[in-house]
Amino acid sequence: MLATLWSAAVRGVDGFLVRVEADLSNGLPCFTTVGLPGGAVREARERVVSAVRNAGFEFPDQRVVVNLAPAEQRKEGAHLDLPIALGVLAASGQIEAKSWSTGFCAFGELALDGSLRPVRGALALTLAARECGMRAALVPSANAAEAALTGLPVFGVGSLTEAAALLGDRERPRRRLPSDELPPPERPGSACAYDLSDVRGQALARRALEISAAGGHNLLMVGPPGSGKSMLARRLPGILPPLGGDEALEVARIHSVAGLRAPSDGIPRERPFRAPHATASTLSMIGGGPACRPGEIVLAHRGVLFLDELPEFRRGALEALRQPLEDHSVTVTRVRDSIRFPADFSLVAAMNPCPCGRAGRVKNPCVCPEPSVRRYRNRVSGPMLDRFDLRIELAPLPFEDWNAPAAGEPSAAVRERVVAARSRSSARLNRPGGNAGLTSAELRTLCPLGAGSLRLIESFVEGGKLSARGIDRILRVARTLADLAGSASIEDPHVSEALFYRGYADP
Ligand SMILES: Nc1ncnc2c1ncn2[C@@H]1O[C@H](COP(=O)(O)OP(=O)(O)OP(=O)(O)O)[C@@H](O)[C@H]1O
Ligand SMILES: [Mg+2]
Ligand SMILES: [Zn+2]
Repeated sequence: MLATLWSAAVRGVDGFLVRVEADLSNGLPCFTTVGLPGGAVREARERVVSAVRNAGFEFPDQRVVVNLAPAEQRKEGAHLDLPIALGVLAASGQIEAKSWSTGFCAFGELALDGSLRPVRGALALTLAARECGMRAALVPSANAAEAALTGLPVFGVGSLTEAAALLGDRERPRRRLPSDELPPPERPGSACAYDLSDVRGQALARRALEISAAGGHNLLMVGPPGSGKSMLARRLPGILPPLGGDEALEVARIHSVAGLRAPSDGIPRERPFRAPHATASTLSMIGGGPACRPGEIVLAHRGVLFLDELPEFRRGALEALRQPLEDHSVTVTRVRDSIRFPADFSLVAAMNPCPCGRAGRVKNPCVCPEPSVRRYRNRVSGPMLDRFDLRIELAPLPFEDWNAPAAGEPSAAVRERVVAARSRSSARLNRPGGNAGLTSAELRTLCPLGAGSLRLIESFVEGGKLSARGIDRILRVARTLADLAGSASIEDPHVSEALFYRGYADP
């Protein structure tokens, strides 16, 4: 007897449909899974046998072969337990799947007693089912709310018994998830715990933070200890523009695959802000490993990756960021194949100018020996530095700024300007992402320059300070400055301000 069911699996952060075929034949009793099962799927056999028996069914005393198609695609995860068990029950005639149930996509991890455990990536799995024309999903009840965010009808079940009863139901079963049980599909942006009104002075850094948020530009803050670099960066989430609808689902799917979502989460509108520790390995930064997990840069997709104390990071981990910063994606290679992950993030970093942090100060100057300063700065390579669109130096906070009676401008006011600027740029681009994502070709067509701006840029190129990539980075920032000012065209002051924030005062 042959039975066929549908399930799904995840490759990278994308789901794909899996056909589960269970075949029973006479012969020496055995149970094999074929079709490139990963480790957890091979172990499914043990769980399925126990779960089937403990749920009150019989495990057939025959030769049982389960094939997972497409066979060339590796399948990871314990979520194939449920469709495998249902396939065995259907093939052995213990449940009679009705014709309407062929449009079901089922997944869930089985406990030995036959109850169902929630799985990682429910959103990605259900999205794949929806995109491939499935009519409903059969999922562990703890995953039901998350799966329902896709809009596909979802049946949440607590055990193998319940799943079997549902599939074998004579009538078409009622939808299990009444709409009042559903989480709000979109969670309103929760307020950031820190507010920019706490920051005194540092006008230059505040402005740079605003430009970075508006356009998604990479920002490097260099300054002495205690000048407020970490403080400012922590306040960035509070001024970032909210995620657009498509972006929000994209981010929720990535975080679902990474197991970062609580089951009750709706689709969050706030952008990711990831701040890995300086000891982070290249693997945790980029992703990969046997299970091909997404790394920090993928988790920061559509948001911010913040690296505090930049030179303390491992050289290899930093250099590995260079290509993704250009491509807005990363390709991770495994033994037999390679997987592309989305990684469109803005890089925000902070560092001291030297090990003691006082280089460039007039009062109480730096005491570091010259070689140690050089070693410290060399930890961040030139090509890496070249990727920062905005490079600013913070001065120690003057006492009168610290003692100023008025608090700084609150995050809400800054965010309003950022949101207005971002909506101008996305209207022009007609796709997600800020001006940082403008391609060279788009810069040429969408960002024409006046004669004055061209002469200014020319003088920096002639002076050997600007590379072709440098020009593109300047133009993207200039476009954001024009958007912040509500200007349709890029004017000369926008270009000179962009040059200034890139660290170029004069050619
Ligand atoms: N501009 C500022 N306005 C108000 N308070 C500030 C400012 N800068 C620093 N502080 C105070 O100093 C503390 C330390 O600042 P922060 O950790 O941001 O410094 P940092 O530049 O990151 O230093 P380090 O280089 O040592 O990491 C803050 O928590 C805050 O209390
Ligand atoms: Mg700090
Ligand atoms: Zn020093």
